[in-house]
Amino acid sequence: MKHSGTFYGVGVGPGDPELLTVKAVNVLKSAEVIAVPRSSDSSSDGASQALLIAKRAIDLEGKELMELLFPMTKDKDALKSARREAGAKVALALNSGRTVAFITLGDPMFYSTFSYLLPFVREFSPEAPVKVVPGITSYSAAVSTALVPLAEADEKVMIVPAAYDIDEVRGLLDSFDTLVLMKVNRIFDRILDLLVSKGLDEKAFLVSRAGWPEEKVVSDIKSLRGTKLDYFSTLIVKKGV
Ligand SMILES: C[S@@+](CC[C@H](N)C(=O)[O-])C[C@H]1O[C@@H](n2cnc3c(N)ncnc32)[C@H](O)[C@@H]1O
Repeated sequence: MKHSGTFYGVGVGPGDPELLTVKAVNVLKSAEVIAVPRSSDSSSDGASQALLIAKRAIDLEGKELMELLFPMTKDKDALKSARREAGAKVALALNSGRTVAFITLGDPMFYSTFSYLLPFVREFSPEAPVKVVPGITSYSAAVSTALVPLAEADEKVMIVPAAYDIDEVRGLLDSFDTLVLMKVNRIFDRILDLLVSKGLDEKAFLVSRAGWPEEKVVSDIKSLRGTKLDYFSTLIVKKGV
């Protein structure tokens, strides 16, 4: 019987191809199959950003690309069946002895589809060794681009994956020194109103596409009211700034 291939979760970082780790590059070079998450959400640009980053870092010519569809829906059954289907597809390759590297934007253990996929891969390919190559997260890149330290001394940091509940954000602003607000593009104006009402708008900055050629840091966040923001934007509020 053939040995199972290894299943890797590989973080490709926030966008700059030079921000892949040496390990990520080596794993991607040696993997036979590159598994690529694809979302059905137009705001996140369906096309895999992780693949665009990986392609800018290494030559993927000749590799088998395995596209895995993850619908952007709140329907639990639809999500489960898509993840199960993706897991079965990956397991088929692993069970035939091939190494599969699942690429993910930023870090695989930080708000990534990798963690949802893994249990299903394990179910269908229990023998396959699993390894994770950490990546540089988007918030790390965002604060580096803006030259603002995320935390100093005893500052407390809160990362908010999607700030859809404004009242909750209001409470978090009272309890933490720094807030990292991800996926802010759709609710930016409401967050801006909240920050203005608390006198915190001048303590905030928005970073879009950190590490991409179109990277942007905006400190005058009021100037962004009513504009269409990139999905790859992070708003950081740092009271100590
Ligand atoms: C699903 S999360 C990304 C999680 C990823 N695993 C990580 O390690 O950052 C998507 C959100 O990350 C943020 N993001 C991703 N790439 C970014 C970039 N290059 N610059 C600024 N924010 C980014 C945005 O807030 C976006 O809505």
